[in-house]
Amino acid sequence: MASSSSSHVSLSGTTYCVVTGASQGIGRAISVEVSKLLGPKSVMLLLARNKEELAKTADLCKSGNVHVLYNSIDLSTATKDEMLAALNQALEGRKVTDFETCVIFHNVGSLGNLAIETTRMENVEELRQYYDLNVFNVIVLNTQFLKVFEPVEERVVLVNISSLCAIKPMSGMAYYCSGKAAKELYFKVLAEEKKHITVLNYSPGPVETAMIDYVIAEAINDNLKDVFHSFKSQGTLLKPEMTAKKCIKVLLSGKFTSGEHTDYFDDE
Ligand SMILES: NC(=O)c1ccc[n+]([C@@H]2O[C@H](COP(=O)([O-])OP(=O)(O)OC[C@H]3O[C@@H](n4cnc5c(N)ncnc54)[C@H](OP(=O)(O)O)[C@@H]3O)[C@@H](O)[C@H]2O)c1
Repeated sequence: MASSSSSHVSLSGTTYCVVTGASQGIGRAISVEVSKLLGPKSVMLLLARNKEELAKTADLCKSGNVHVLYNSIDLSTATKDEMLAALNQALEGRKVTDFETCVIFHNVGSLGNLAIETTRMENVEELRQYYDLNVFNVIVLNTQFLKVFEPVEERVVLVNISSLCAIKPMSGMAYYCSGKAAKELYFKVLAEEKKHITVLNYSPGPVETAMIDYVIAEAINDNLKDVFHSFKSQGTLLKPEMTAKKCIKVLLSGKFTSGEHTDYFDDE
């Protein structure tokens, strides 16, 4: 981890917090861990498609300090107006200046087609759909977030749930690696331009979620299958709450350089 420090992030004041992909896995764990720390009159907005699972996450986040809202939204097809409306609705008539910290966890993500050779990728529609969810609409949602909180931009904290695959090639994962790399570099550019905004590019390590099972079931690349099988059989996968806790610890410590790739396994 980089040694120079970004500004210290606090969640203990009145906070506005969005988590995408909050219906399961790492997103659910981040939501739960964040909810324990938020100050009075905070609001959390949980986004994903599955309403029932979002409701379960919301239940897990309930505390005296936090008003938890959830919105079933398909982030691969949502328009910028729908995104903006969801963010504004969660303000519930309050002013952005009421919030001491305004944080968004861009956690949503998918693996793409693991059943195609990298040398055979030519389905533009499928590529577009992948990039819509994993790159384009992350940028669009982030832009809506920046618009809403422009008057208090110095209070904005952007967390991109990245991956080692953003900086290191993994055989059989060309969709995923290229999408993660593009997304991370977008956030790096933002961090470069906006020194008063805090940007954390956090790579969560290998985590026991549905994503791992999807790789084992769908991957045609033998190397990829082997890597993930051994993660599972050797019991080396992290629990979602372990990496969620670490992500928040890094954020609160301020011991990271805004925009730099930061990993679960980095030294503190
Ligand atoms: N697991 C790992 O080992 C690992 C490692 C490195 C990085 N990551 C990253 O961590 C993040 C979370 O991964 P995870 O393992 O927790 O995955 P997961 O269990 O598959 O969760 C993905 C989340 O994204 C939501 N989602 C998927 N498609 C959506 C859509 N079209 N619209 C709205 N929401 C959608 C899902 O909810 P719905 O289905 O309800 O929409 C779900 O809440 C991802 O960015 C992933 O790349 C994971």
